[in-house]
Amino acid sequence: MHIVREVTEGLYWIGANDHRLTLFENIHPIPEGVSYNSYIALGEKTILFDTVDWDACRQMLENLKYVLDGRDLDYIVINHWEPDHAASLQEVLIEYPNAKIIGNLKGFQLAEQFGFHIDEEKKIIVNEGDVIDAGNHQLTFLFMPMVHWPEAMVTFDLSNGALFTADAFGSFKALDGKLFNDEVDYDRDWLDENRRYLTNIVGKYGPHIRKILKKAAPLLDQVKFICPLHGLVWRNNFSYLLEKYELWANYEPEQKGVMICYASMYGNTEQAAQALAAKLCDLGVPNVSVFDVSNTHVSYLIAEVFKKSHVVLASCTYNLGIFPVMKNFLEDMKALNVQNRTFAIIENGSWAIRSGDLISQFLDEQMKTITVLNDRVTIASHLKEGQNEEIEDLALEIKESMRG
Ligand SMILES: Cc1cc2nc3c(=O)[nH]c(=O)nc-3n(C[C@H](O)[C@H](O)[C@H](O)COP(=O)(O)O)c2cc1C
Ligand SMILES: [Fe+2]
Ligand SMILES: [Fe+2]
Repeated sequence: MHIVREVTEGLYWIGANDHRLTLFENIHPIPEGVSYNSYIALGEKTILFDTVDWDACRQMLENLKYVLDGRDLDYIVINHWEPDHAASLQEVLIEYPNAKIIGNLKGFQLAEQFGFHIDEEKKIIVNEGDVIDAGNHQLTFLFMPMVHWPEAMVTFDLSNGALFTADAFGSFKALDGKLFNDEVDYDRDWLDENRRYLTNIVGKYGPHIRKILKKAAPLLDQVKFICPLHGLVWRNNFSYLLEKYELWANYEPEQKGVMICYASMYGNTEQAAQALAAKLCDLGVPNVSVFDVSNTHVSYLIAEVFKKSHVVLASCTYNLGIFPVMKNFLEDMKALNVQNRTFAIIENGSWAIRSGDLISQFLDEQMKTITVLNDRVTIASHLKEGQNEEIEDLALEIKESMRG
């Protein structure tokens, strides 16, 4: 049975939702699922834009057959060769052996590595800026290396204004019937998962995202649909989406606020985190959130760091080191190039308190354009009543630094 949505006249979404996969890339939890988007354009020629993950292949093929309604498939554009999009290509080719495949050279090289066998005469190798005349669809291509892989590209259909953006503008979360940005409450239901996808999957490549945004800028007034490979199709309000991407790509916080992360075995460091949260709220500091690093998947922590201006790291000492889950979080922030944030530190230990110095050293030496506040709270096992003042001082310093 087909499940198809029309994007615009002659263009259809023929993807599928996946609620069975628990970990995207076998690492990021996706409790709300994910969609693999594939699109087909009908005109004088028929053009498929990307395929889907192997798990979604059957649904996509049923959709494809329904929309083609007996017609042959002329072209397949592959914008991104990662298996969550290209894995079903071989299966499509079994059904439609006459289709020609449009991709760039790097893409075809990757295809070879993954074991896709594509006859030479079926390949149409494009360069950036080429225009392909596919009947009444004119296609042009922009390369966007490292968003998310080196071969990734964007295809623009000049005839209907559809921009096929591969993983750019993609999101976690299954569509479940919806397709367009204006069919959902984006701020309430999608923004968090969109941020978590972007920051964790391509957060590291902010400069590359900035480059493609700049490259695509001259096309923008012709764009009518932004069609990514995961999540919603955008058909209006582009400036809202682009503003978010500008912030994420430039590592600029979305809001003034404090994310307090604690790593605590027995609850003593946790208590300090809660005391600080209460004090900050007392002082009227906005957007205070608290996370237990041991119980929160790091992809959520990363997304929150991209959102907030201030981050407090509270960690007990563990075998003369930083508590392992906190260390892992630090490594992930470094790997994803987190910058332009203000940090504060709370440390705890019972005989050789080391976590604060080690966190401070990591922030200084391993991360870029980070400010670390002077007031550090040190706990010898358990916060003493008299340390209330230290917590208050730290809260005040955080509040003060927000003014800047
Ligand atoms: C396996 C293990 C290793 C530890 N290593 C250190 C250490 O190297 N230095 C130190 O001062 N405390 C060390 N501690 C003690 C804790 O850091 C300390 O008791 C702290 O107050 C615990 O805070 P919490 O209640 O937030 O878990 C260790 C504790 C455990 C269980
Ligand atoms: Fe990808
Ligand atoms: Fe993807």
